[in-house]
Amino acid sequence: MTRRKLVAGNWKMHGSLAQLAELDAIAAAARANPQVDVAICPPFTLIAAAAARGDLTIGAQDSHQNEKGAHTGCVSAPMLREAGAKLVIVGHSERRTDQRESDAEVYAKARAVIAAGMIAIVCVGETEGERDAGRAAEVVERQLQGSIPADGTATQLVVAYEPVWAIGTGRTPTVGDVAAMHASIRTKLGDMLDAEAEGVRILYGGSVKPSNAAELMAVNNVDGALVGGASLTAADFVPIIEAAA
Ligand code: G3P
Repeated sequence: MTRRKLVAGNWKMHGSLAQLAELDAIAAAARANPQVDVAICPPFTLIAAAAARGDLTIGAQDSHQNEKGAHTGCVSAPMLREAGAKLVIVGHSERRTDQRESDAEVYAKARAVIAAGMIAIVCVGETEGERDAGRAAEVVERQLQGSIPADGTATQLVVAYEPVWAIGTGRTPTVGDVAAMHASIRTKLGDMLDAEAEGVRILYGGSVKPSNAAELMAVNNVDGALVGGASLTAADFVPIIEAAA
């Protein structure tokens, strides 16, 4: 099955109104490569301004699971949608670690994002210790089982495989390891989502950069990339979009 590739940038806690100028060249690259879906997920404070800037798809990096309520400092999925977000990353390993988010919370957030009419990018990935212990596939399978709404469709759900030890380190798994993990994720999604699983895009994330993007994008079952550091400037991000085209 052919799946449209998605290249999404996660700005994490970086960026400013001035840095949104980078989006113009990124949007131009998205228009020049219409066979690829392109998105940038800036911090909450920049979503509305980023969305107002043009036609580039804008996303968020987290959502609360409730629509509203007494949750100081939190932002809900309908609020993100109103600000202009079309997709939302949930369950990033930095949140699973820093905010101690459980699979059950990630599941609830994914449901809230989908209910608000946006795409949920659900992140999974093993730590270095788990990989060294030979438990990578088992850990990722458990995260998928607990985090993915089984009634989600291929248009509502994206999975991002981000090995924790590859994030921001410059290290990446071998293409063989990426292929094996993405195949295993596809099989697990098949168990959970039946026929819908074939259409769900599985992104690779973790030290994707211009020099390794083409190799990673060519791996079977790699349907795009979730990019951190290299999404902060058009100079780095545009070649990654082109590599996915
Ligand atoms: O969500 C993307 C991310 O965690 C990967 O970060 O900087 O290794 O591309 P980076």
